[in-house]
Amino acid sequence: MLSVSLCGNRLRNPLILASGVRGNSAELLIRAAREGAGAVTSKSCSLCPREGHSNPTMVADGGIFLNAIGLSNPGVEEEIGEIRRAVRKAGVPVIASIVGFSPEEFGRLAERMEEAKPHMIEADASCPNIEHGGKMFSQSVEDAVAVTKAVRAATSLPFSIKLSPDVPNIGQIAKACVEAGADCITAVNTMGGMLIDPYAKKAVLHNRFGGLSGHALKPIALKSVYSIRKAVGDGVPIIGTGGVACGLDAVEMIMAGATCVGVGTAVALRNGAFRQIAGEMREFMRKEGYRSVSELSLDEG
Ligand SMILES: Cc1cc2nc3c(=O)[nH]c(=O)nc-3n(C[C@H](O)[C@H](O)[C@H](O)COP(=O)(O)O)c2cc1C
Repeated sequence: MLSVSLCGNRLRNPLILASGVRGNSAELLIRAAREGAGAVTSKSCSLCPREGHSNPTMVADGGIFLNAIGLSNPGVEEEIGEIRRAVRKAGVPVIASIVGFSPEEFGRLAERMEEAKPHMIEADASCPNIEHGGKMFSQSVEDAVAVTKAVRAATSLPFSIKLSPDVPNIGQIAKACVEAGADCITAVNTMGGMLIDPYAKKAVLHNRFGGLSGHALKPIALKSVYSIRKAVGDGVPIIGTGGVACGLDAVEMIMAGATCVGVGTAVALRNGAFRQIAGEMREFMRKEGYRSVSELSLDEG
């Protein structure tokens, strides 16, 4: 009932561990697969190891997170081993996330990552905490296309480009990326935000700003996915991500136009999140008379 296909891979359900929430290690990706994820995405890795930002790097406030981890990761050479192990043992498709600081770096990362034979690559062009010259690559058509072309030239693996919701024209950016060779779009990354401790008179995060995820992001993610689907048409897969915490959230994301559903913050907030969300999706579909995920569509009449 829940199985879907994504860039030539069959997933037992459409729920994908979103990048970053479980980190870079094979063990944690394998654990998410055992917990019921249909596919898993690693935390973005860069060419060189990165320590990331100073603490505090993360704060929870109700159903939301604000994080400014600063892309701490062991670098691509170590990550290749982790991805290779995850591919061997996870039993579900593994998506390797890469992050560069120039289009050329994205290309080199994609080329190196081929060695680990992930099922897909995801190019993180939208980290709000790390910017090149004051902006994210996915903030302009030109920069997003440059990253897409560099990755396309470097690998024959299917790849998705991950976009930021913090733009007025996400559909236009997604369409340009597809025309430049992206096989899939992941939408969305976190949205820039800030929290203040009024007693300390300080920003809560050391980095001041962070990426907002979880419940508050859901309406923004739904609008983004809907706009992208309208712009790219039916054939292009979309991994709809942002604020999905229960089965109905996942159904909404698919009705907005997503092929698969990324789950991040909810994995940290809800034990057994994948199994529970999948169970709730099945229950909704059974009650409402849906036989497959492809039947979940928006009635726009
Ligand atoms: C702690 C944390 C770390 C993250 N790290 C990454 C990352 O390395 N690369 C990336 O593309 N997205 C990263 N994200 C963004 C998530 O993959 C996801 O797009 C976002 O959190 C929205 O989904 P959610 O509301 O289900 O968490 C991170 C999110 C969180 C909460």
